[in-house]
Amino acid sequence: MSQAASESGTPDATGDSHPMTAAELTEEVVARFSDAADPRLRQIMQSLVRHLHAFAADVQLTQAEWLAGIQFLTATGHKSDDKRQEFILLSDTLGLSTLVDLIEHEVDGSSTESTVLGPFYVPGSPERALGASIAERPSGEPAWVAGRVLDTDGRPIAGAEVDVWQNGDDMLYAVQDPEAPQTNLRGLFRTTDDGRYAFLGVRPTDYPIPDDGPVGEMLSASGRHPWRAAHLHFIVRAPGFRPVTTHVFDDGSRFLESDTVFGVKPSLVRRFQRHEPGAADRPEDVRPDQVWYSLTFDFVLRRQP
Ligand code: BEZ
Ligand code: FE
Repeated sequence: MSQAASESGTPDATGDSHPMTAAELTEEVVARFSDAADPRLRQIMQSLVRHLHAFAADVQLTQAEWLAGIQFLTATGHKSDDKRQEFILLSDTLGLSTLVDLIEHEVDGSSTESTVLGPFYVPGSPERALGASIAERPSGEPAWVAGRVLDTDGRPIAGAEVDVWQNGDDMLYAVQDPEAPQTNLRGLFRTTDDGRYAFLGVRPTDYPIPDDGPVGEMLSASGRHPWRAAHLHFIVRAPGFRPVTTHVFDDGSRFLESDTVFGVKPSLVRRFQRHEPGAADRPEDVRPDQVWYSLTFDFVLRRQP
């Protein structure tokens, strides 16, 4: 027992004692972590205890409510496996994933803002040629996506990797659909000497995060929807630069203001410019009878410290 608790919870010199207070309990639990050999672990555990206790005290948590909380966390674990990570969805929908991302990638105003990775990234996308289509089967309205990868002084970065994955008009990523080619709507592009990349994707669609588990129940009980604003995912990497994991959002989405994982940042929102069928300047893989879209986005990377 720590000095604080032994002084307060046991009889003093006059034989008086008083009931343990919540504040004394918190200090006692914090003190039990003071011998942790790793100072970072000590800091994290002590702060976690203080904030957990403050939360329970703040809402005057009942035993029945905490049991319901434990059952919720247990169900979250049971719903998770190597394909479905319900704890990440929980972190995402509580805004914690975005907060941790913000802490790690502090905004500097001159490089591209990052946002959440999400559960549908699969490493090893096929390398594709400049301007190639990433749609391996009909997947929606074609969208020509092009831009440059630059350093913070505006100089092009040659040979940068632009790793892209997106959903199509069935709202699914390839990894969610065993019937789809597993490389559909994914691709790895390398920038040209003047830092350019380009590919033909499709206009992405708004979609609900997987909501058939405890996180979906939590959202619906809280009056929240499970929808994400339509976006393309990117990881952009170049030797000597900090990689960026980010999205480009469609400015026509209904969910920009209420994205369920708090991933939208105004600097990442762009217009998909509409082109009527038959335009002579349409990309090679767009049929003459198709409406298509175009979008421009430059990525700016900062140098590795
Ligand atoms: C996604 O954008 O792919 C995503 C992010 C967080 C949760 C679910 C999906
Ligand atoms: Fe996504």
